Amino acid sequence: MSKQQGYRSRSAYKLLEIDDKFRILAPKQLVVDLGCAPGGWLQVAKQRVRNGCIIGVDLQEVAPLDEVTVVTGDFTATATVQAVVNILGGRKVNVVLSDLAAASCGMASVDHIRIMSLVRAVFDFCVHTLDNGGSMVAKVLRGGTENLLLAEIKKKFARVAHFKPQASRCDSSEMYIVAIGYRPDHQAH
Ligand SMILES: C[S@@+](CC[C@H](N)C(=O)[O-])C[C@H]1O[C@@H](n2cnc3c(N)ncnc32)[C@H](O)[C@@H]1O
Repeated sequence: MSKQQGYRSRSAYKLLEIDDKFRILAPKQLVVDLGCAPGGWLQVAKQRVRNGCIIGVDLQEVAPLDEVTVVTGDFTATATVQAVVNILGGRKVNVVLSDLAAASCGMASVDHIRIMSLVRAVFDFCVHTLDNGGSMVAKVLRGGTENLLLAEIKKKFARVAHFKPQASRCDSSEMYIVAIGYRPDHQAH
């Protein structure tokens, strides 16, 4: 179906479902898509963020897409984050998307630690770049987001939910944390 409809990945349908439910993407936004190859989420973002700006990051090369800037590199490396920050040039981001997935080693506990360190890097990036009211979507594994990190995320966003799109295979342990309404100065009591 994804090929028929011109999407580069099946993952595109996951973002469509997430956005249909949570209404994250809107015209004129600045969106950063982490782990963007081969580009299905970039295509969905392009459709829904008209006249905006979309930046993707991946370890792998991504075939060019009009109006999308891609940084090739490891998002956990400072040089890659710096390259994105340079492109932003001081502008604040409205939406940070992450479908980042480290290759599974087959041991659930190790996979969980690896994906959590990616989500931590995504959240840290949000803290430095996200605009007031902005959103973050990040892939996590079954069991959701690790408690300490989840507590930090909840402090900084008005609404936080875990969501498993139907397009995500039910035998897969992936799900997404969706955090809406970034409020950097909020003090939780
Ligand atoms: C599930 S795929 C993303 C699919 C994409 N959302 C789409 O719709 O086409 C996960 C991607 O994360 C990338 N990735 C994993 N670890 C990464 C890292 N440390 N830095 C940058 N990209 C990474 C992989 O190269 C892979 O392309």
